[in-house]
Amino acid sequence: MKVLIAASEAVPYAKTGGLADVVGALLKEHRKAGREAYLFLPLYRGIKERFSLEDTGRKVTVPIGGRRISGRIFSHEGVAFFVECDEFFGRSELYGTPEGDYADNSSRFIFFDRAVLEACKALGLRPDVIHCNDWQTGLLPLYLKTIYSSDFFRGTVTLMTVHNLGYQGLFEARDYALTGLPPELFNPEGPEFYGKVNFLKAGLIGAEIITTVSETYAREILTAEFGSGLEGVLMKRASDLHGVLNGIDYEEWDPGRDSLIDSVYSPSDLSGKASCKRALLKECSFSGNDRKAPVMALVGRLSAQKGLDILVEAADDIVSMGAKIIILGRGEEEIHKSVTAAAGRHKGRIFLKVGYDESFAHRIYAGSDMFLMPSIYEPCGLGQLAAMRYGGLPVARRTGGLADTVEEYEPLKGLGTGFLFDDYRAGSLRECVRLAMCAYTDTARWNGLLRRAMEKDFSWGSSARKYYGLYKAALARKRRQL
Ligand code: ADP
Ligand code: GLC
Repeated sequence: MKVLIAASEAVPYAKTGGLADVVGALLKEHRKAGREAYLFLPLYRGIKERFSLEDTGRKVTVPIGGRRISGRIFSHEGVAFFVECDEFFGRSELYGTPEGDYADNSSRFIFFDRAVLEACKALGLRPDVIHCNDWQTGLLPLYLKTIYSSDFFRGTVTLMTVHNLGYQGLFEARDYALTGLPPELFNPEGPEFYGKVNFLKAGLIGAEIITTVSETYAREILTAEFGSGLEGVLMKRASDLHGVLNGIDYEEWDPGRDSLIDSVYSPSDLSGKASCKRALLKECSFSGNDRKAPVMALVGRLSAQKGLDILVEAADDIVSMGAKIIILGRGEEEIHKSVTAAAGRHKGRIFLKVGYDESFAHRIYAGSDMFLMPSIYEPCGLGQLAAMRYGGLPVARRTGGLADTVEEYEPLKGLGTGFLFDDYRAGSLRECVRLAMCAYTDTARWNGLLRRAMEKDFSWGSSARKYYGLYKAALARKRRQL
């Protein structure tokens, strides 16, 4: 079975968030298990600068409205393929800048989706399964059901993974003409969405199988609260919708042999974690006599989804309880401002770094005691998985993948791997932090929780097998139909 994973980002090539980690790790796991899997990505400027790629000598041409746009196909180690088109992808960012999205994102990803299919033909690579990820690859399933339903792709099935329903690829109706899809499909049963064109919806309609990244989120998105207007479409497809939990790459995230952290450690010898904390306190210019204070961290996109407004509101109380807060992230301009103001009010108690910094992220996971994830919604979340692996206990809202991966602290039994709250309110977050700080004062108890968190298994093996099972089921169904 040939599996082709199409995505707009993947580690180690390009990353803005968890999508890249998941796509990169899933590809790696499929290959490790001996499955024939390939990756397709846009060739962004950063990839060109950092990797030495082979030119396959194949070229593709895609009509976008009245224009015909060409791109060349490059490859890396025979596994990853890249669509080069500097007009669209030769830029510093993937989707836009803090001021907003690139204005031509619809053309960029119409081009990419069609270019992937054209490249398959040009390379003679006939996929059995195309695994699509998020709105950027949402048109692919519908293309396969319409203009590409020809012989070459007759046996191909698609699986559409929703990593985040908050981003749908919603564009003005006039952009529909650029897709080249049949005009009569632009209706509420098709990719039309309240007068606009919705790329993710195209994927939800066209794909044989739909997945999302946790069981809880798979249930949540069938409701108006979490469905972002697509709950009706998802309800119709409920029997083909599955939750497959994300993992993290255990080779990359391993406190026992991480070269980016101050000292390595393991559940049976935690002394290295104390050194990591000392080093982190120093790096953030927190004074040495703060060693006993719990360090709480947040590493993530600074977007409304991540609950930064209630964190900023609760921050005064949290620091006055004696905790230190470290925030690493970048994202929306408004949120940069409010977080910067909070850090300014509490110099020496809140440390903020606005930016993207992979190696600092590792040092934060290793040196902190708790990990803050007060998300409004969270399809899965990888931050809490990395934190647990490094012995940081999540303080998180009970939603989506956070509910599925954090085992709630039970004060009477001293069990659990983290702390959960329900109401999206600063007061609920504050009380949850208070409970965590109370548990933290009992070192023996805390170390018990921490070891339990470190020993949880969030590696990719079983989830990658689940995807493979879904590919097989979809193919078997398709073959019965042919
Ligand atoms: P999302 O995909 O919604 O952004 P996840 O929790 O699934 O959230 O994944 C985020 C991933 O990106 C984690 O691996 C996290 O460590 C990493 N990350 C996010 N922001 C930064 C940053 N500013 N610097 C370094 N790593 C980051
Ligand atoms: C998204 C979600 C996050 C998830 C990630 C990878 O961006 O916000 O919860 O872990 O995708 O699936």
